[in-house]
Amino acid sequence: MNIQMVDLKGQYTKIQQEMDAAVLQVVRSGRYINGPEVGMFAEALQNYTGAKHVIPCGNGTDALQIALMALGLKSGDEVIVPAFTYVASVEAIGLLGLTPVMVDVDPDSFNLTAKNIENGISAKTKAIVAVHLFGQSCDMAPIMALAKRHHLYVVEDNAQSLGACYAIPPTPLYGESKEQKQTGTIGHIGCTSFFPTKNLGGYGDGGAMMTNDDDLAQKLKMIANHGQRQKYHHEVLGCNSRLDTLQAAVLNVKLKYLKDYTVARQKAAKIYTQGLTGLNRLDTPKEVSFSTHVYHQYTIKVQDGKRDALKQYLAEQGIPTMIYYPLPLQEQPCFKYIARSGASLTVAKALSQSVLSLPMHTELTADEQEYIVNKIRTYFEGMSPLATQ
Ligand SMILES: Cc1ncc(COP(=O)(O)O)c(C=O)c1O
Repeated sequence: MNIQMVDLKGQYTKIQQEMDAAVLQVVRSGRYINGPEVGMFAEALQNYTGAKHVIPCGNGTDALQIALMALGLKSGDEVIVPAFTYVASVEAIGLLGLTPVMVDVDPDSFNLTAKNIENGISAKTKAIVAVHLFGQSCDMAPIMALAKRHHLYVVEDNAQSLGACYAIPPTPLYGESKEQKQTGTIGHIGCTSFFPTKNLGGYGDGGAMMTNDDDLAQKLKMIANHGQRQKYHHEVLGCNSRLDTLQAAVLNVKLKYLKDYTVARQKAAKIYTQGLTGLNRLDTPKEVSFSTHVYHQYTIKVQDGKRDALKQYLAEQGIPTMIYYPLPLQEQPCFKYIARSGASLTVAKALSQSVLSLPMHTELTADEQEYIVNKIRTYFEGMSPLATQ
């Protein structure tokens, strides 16, 4: 058995003909920068997510940086971020001379909560980066209400949760709405990544920003294109961040399958959860009531300091696993002198010591999952292996 953490090649094989034709079309066209596929992809993603504007860019990290630039924040302004996320969510804040304020996350969903954000708000706070980690939405209605009260911008880091739906509860802000909104379309700007292993992954780097605000859309577009609306007229300091035509062609093909890919991930997650529920010292991922889960990662929590030993044991059985993330961001040396902590970050610390992500991708087979589940069950003392058929 050759179990992989992700299987991009296997996924490609299933759509090989269609993909080869799409890629070859770009190669033959000679339009490698800003070819028609880029605009087609932006429109397709607009339709998919319901966002009014989609602005493709070079990668998810650029998307976050350009989003913060478009908000016109000034040096010293504070931006609230979760202490438990990928470094990119915080990097851009520091690079722009803004102050990241790290706050703790919810131990079950791994995500920011309005209450934790409130702990980090000061007179200097100007924005929140709400990261939808591992495939589930943050509870956005209370976050948007809090942001409105404090006049804060909300940037959604949706790199890991494209396709997840947030169920808007009846609140004063949204009225009696029973509407579902896709993650990335709820805050002022949503950012996403098309890194190959993401739920919608290209065959190289890629990213996008989305917004429902016409003015912000113009700014995002301009900043991503050297600060120009008209060629060689640079109104603001910008950067060069483009989605390659080739990547857009790849993504145009894969976007058609995103719903199927999500279903495959959800099915795999269900098999894991059924097989692993009830084990002492192991928590399966909690699905929150207000969001669908698109399972970018299937992340278990292993208690009593047994995580690293389980990881080692599984590696010996040919099962790859990953620790997302082994250090909470408050302990990363790069943030030591620039970040402020909103309050105690004990949950982020505890998660960094207990989380373990199991193989999760669209090509996982039932046999592979049965093997993984059996090995995990046998690892924990007093647990008998699942009967194999
Ligand atoms: C939560 C989060 N934010 C941002 C990024 C950055 O995306 P990219 O790698 O495309 O720059 C990633 C990707 O790994 C991510 O997981």
